[in-house]
Amino acid sequence: MQTLVTDRPEEAARHLNRGETVAFPTETVYGLGADAFNPEAVAGIFRAKGRPSDNPLIVHVASPGKVGEVASEIGENARRLIECFFPGPLTIVLKKRDTVPEIVSAGLPTVGVRCPAHPQAAEFLRHCKHPVAAPSANVSGRPSPTDWKTVYHDLGGRIGCLLRGEPSTIGLESTIVDCSVEPPRLLRTGAVSVEALRELVPDIQVATTCKPGEAPKSPGQKYRHYSPEAEIVLVETPPPSLPADPPAAWIGLSTPPAGAAKSLHCRDMDEYARVLFGFFRTCDAEGIRTIHCELPPEEGIGRAIRDRLVKAAGRG
Ligand code: TXA
Ligand code: MG
Repeated sequence: MQTLVTDRPEEAARHLNRGETVAFPTETVYGLGADAFNPEAVAGIFRAKGRPSDNPLIVHVASPGKVGEVASEIGENARRLIECFFPGPLTIVLKKRDTVPEIVSAGLPTVGVRCPAHPQAAEFLRHCKHPVAAPSANVSGRPSPTDWKTVYHDLGGRIGCLLRGEPSTIGLESTIVDCSVEPPRLLRTGAVSVEALRELVPDIQVATTCKPGEAPKSPGQKYRHYSPEAEIVLVETPPPSLPADPPAAWIGLSTPPAGAAKSLHCRDMDEYARVLFGFFRTCDAEGIRTIHCELPPEEGIGRAIRDRLVKAAGRG
């Protein structure tokens, strides 16, 4: 398959409306989209990514007012969250309409809905005839892509079109809140923080990790995720030095230890979130075997960074 690369949202939407898979930028990470109401097109997403078919997809809408095109019930909590955080880096799980095909929801009675704030994504979605089902645009198991070249590296030749944009400004996937249950449950941390959610929904339950023997609340919880090939070492405080052989890398908020073959000293947590997945990818490309990652404070987007680090280390 030939992958067309374009800067024009309208052209990308034309490909999607024809039943093709189209990768597009959002403020969180790049997504791989298909017409949510066309099951054959959606099957193309699973094929291109090598994604397990029991892992449901998030459906993207062009504006907050279109959530009702895929959700059958929008309760008071969901309404409040939509009003405050849409468009933005938040996904809300709601009871689905019958028109949403089983392949999108992986057989669940619910659907995850997101309205991205990214201007190119918004324009692309406006030109799409229907809502767009889209997971992150990576080969399953790899870190989510935050720039178009990485998408092309993973999926070039396997998708119809790639809408080229700037690198994602947030760099981590959206926060997911399940509003189909009472009280609502946080399923994945992201840039919309637990603190911010609690201001609107004080009784929200945090269910982002899956305990052994317990059924996963979000099917995505049971898969190993976000992993680079290098081994991830989680660090609470930086050691004075790293061994020089084999070469090891460092990323974190503190000054890098001596001996790091490659390092990234992030000014703040927003920068840490933005550069993390790209750093994993560069380390792999350069043959670095171990990445020492400093765990940031458990507040704001720090919780989401910690979550992705723990998962990348294979402990999630
Ligand atoms: O920021 C994002 O959310 C990006 C961009 C492209 O929008 N998308 C993304 O999609 O990260 P994906 O497929 O990589 O992650 C979606 C997660 C999966 O863990 C999936 O199990 C969960 O959302 N999910 C989707 N629908 C769900 C549902 N109905 N109930 C519970 N979890 C759901
Ligand atoms: Mg993903």
